[in-house]
Amino acid sequence: MSDVVVPEGGFWPAPEIPQPNIYPMEWRVETEKLAAIYEKSKRMVWNPADLPWDLLDPGDFTAEQRLGIMYWFSVLANFDASGPAVFARATIQAFEKHEEDPVRKCFFSITRDEMNHEECCQRTIARLWPGGPLDWQPSTDLERAAHNNIGWLYHNGGRYWNGYNAAVGKYSLAVLFTSFMMGEMAASTLFRGMASGTEHPLFSDMFHKIGRDESRHLQICMTILENEWPGLTDDVRGLITRQLRAGFVFLSMILWEPPEGFWELPPYFLHNHRVLMDHAREGGLGVLSYEEQADNWRLAMARVRAIVERWGIEFPAIPELDIDGVNVDVIDPEDIIPVF
Ligand SMILES: [Fe+2]
Ligand SMILES: [Fe+2]
Repeated sequence: MSDVVVPEGGFWPAPEIPQPNIYPMEWRVETEKLAAIYEKSKRMVWNPADLPWDLLDPGDFTAEQRLGIMYWFSVLANFDASGPAVFARATIQAFEKHEEDPVRKCFFSITRDEMNHEECCQRTIARLWPGGPLDWQPSTDLERAAHNNIGWLYHNGGRYWNGYNAAVGKYSLAVLFTSFMMGEMAASTLFRGMASGTEHPLFSDMFHKIGRDESRHLQICMTILENEWPGLTDDVRGLITRQLRAGFVFLSMILWEPPEGFWELPPYFLHNHRVLMDHAREGGLGVLSYEEQADNWRLAMARVRAIVERWGIEFPAIPELDIDGVNVDVIDPEDIIPVF
């Protein structure tokens, strides 16, 4: 009975699996460097629950400062807390397109890390403003302003998500990852700035750890792009230029202030946003000043520019920061890919 059955005329070939599909299973490794980064990501994992939360005493802050800090984390969550879903979808896509195994694993590790970043938003808000971001009843004008602004912010987050879902299947890795790279550059810049600006030991610890993750994400993006960029066509280069502008417009909400061109916001939004950010700043969160934010953002853009121009990709004009380049007109939600 230990003999196998060999049919007369030979084995029947299994049907070809229509693609895209996650089957057949295989574990191809082409980029050893990515495999090494994935190993490193597993060793560097940290647990947000183990941060020194006891040090975050709501009684150490005024009500306005608590509201301001909750507001900042609610704004951050528009970006960082979309990370798990955005990268989970990118991970599935990478499986369906049979990207090499380390690419899929690195996407998964970013998903894992972003879940931790989301948890930091969640835990901070739960501690300082129970029910936040939106499930609470405001009772002062400042509180109503915060609640209303957060509602508008997430309206735009929802538009981004719809656009991303429509776009993610359409674009090659080169296009997706140039945008992701910009997001990671923005994120690592933001958290480096905040880590040096904050006066609070819990936030300092948190921002250092998140910043380290974001630098690794940037490394992943760069390694993937080094593989993908050499095959770019001019069409794709133009698309990337457009998406870099879209990335600037989208990410400015957390790095600096929202520019014209995408955000659907009521006319009072920006004024109230500034008031709330000032309260967060006074609470010692480490929010940089308007000018420091602009300098930081300009520096991050210059880094992205230097990287993409090496591959013949033109940089968009960012008049808001006095950066010259190619003019890009209206931004649609589908142009916006980047995430933290
Ligand atoms: Fe990230
Ligand atoms: Fe993140």
